[in-house]
Amino acid sequence: MIIAVGSLKGSPGATTLTLALADRWPVGGGEPLVVEADPAGGDLGARFGLLTASRGLVTLAAAGRRGGAARPVEDHIHELPGGLQVIAAPAGAEQASQVLGELDGGGWSLLWSAARGQGRPLLVDCGRLDARSSGRPVLDAADVLLLVVRARDDELSHLAARIPVVQSWELPAWYVVVVAQPDRSADYRVGDISRVLGSRVLGPVPYDAAAAGVLAGRRHTRVGIGRTKLGRTAASLADYLAASVSTDVPAEPWTPALPTGAAASAGRVALPRTRAR
Ligand SMILES: Nc1ncnc2c1ncn2[C@@H]1O[C@H](COP(=O)(O)OP(=O)(O)OP(=O)(O)O)[C@@H](O)[C@H]1O
Ligand SMILES: [Mg+2]
Repeated sequence: MIIAVGSLKGSPGATTLTLALADRWPVGGGEPLVVEADPAGGDLGARFGLLTASRGLVTLAAAGRRGGAARPVEDHIHELPGGLQVIAAPAGAEQASQVLGELDGGGWSLLWSAARGQGRPLLVDCGRLDARSSGRPVLDAADVLLLVVRARDDELSHLAARIPVVQSWELPAWYVVVVAQPDRSADYRVGDISRVLGSRVLGPVPYDAAAAGVLAGRRHTRVGIGRTKLGRTAASLADYLAASVSTDVPAEPWTPALPTGAAASAGRVALPRTRAR
């Protein structure tokens, strides 16, 4: 299974969610592998002190170009404290975009083979999905896209404007994952978005600075994030994805309905209809 995770604007927590899902992936669902495919440059190297030049996307791209003599995907993996396996991107937008382009030479195929052949869930952090994004090969291969947005009016207006573009990518499945804001209740705006996008909306992912700090390498803990709010939400989201995507059960039917009346006049964002798949 290939899960693409991306954002539209800002830094809503795509990298954090990618790591949290991999960390909480259901036992027996295969060994998850996180791929940092952010054209704006990787964060995992700096956050966890990884040498991304000797292992990671850079070496994977080189291996892909060598074709048959390629080192297996395992040779490009770093293990984070706690055991999470990641293929990290170099820092810097120029370096990262270049190496993402070079993966077309065979690196992507190595990853897709690991996902399909070895049954490894691949969680690919695509960073911001804008018009110039180099994430196209990931979107073409993905079984599901998770679009991470914060429950804020500015980010939701970008979501509203980009829904037709997201639809044009023709993914087998896509969901909007709403991340809560520190100054708001966890389900702030989630009801509004759900009224339009129905079962495409997952979350809310709670605002949990302590658990997010662990996943960003700022905090250290012996017990991990399993018992945290963020960890528990990620676990149920991972269970849902592992079950619904792997068994090809379509998302539940939903009825789109634009917010009207009080909600609309309160200046709330009206999301356009999405197409049932
Ligand atoms: N659920 C959360 N609760 C609290 N803090 C969070 C949460 N998710 C992310 N953060 C924090 O917000 C910051 C940005 O998170 P992250 O790097 O995951 O965002 P991103 O969407 O990947 O950003 P970018 O597009 O810059 O790569 C980090 O400091 C992270 O620890
Ligand atoms: Mg990121």
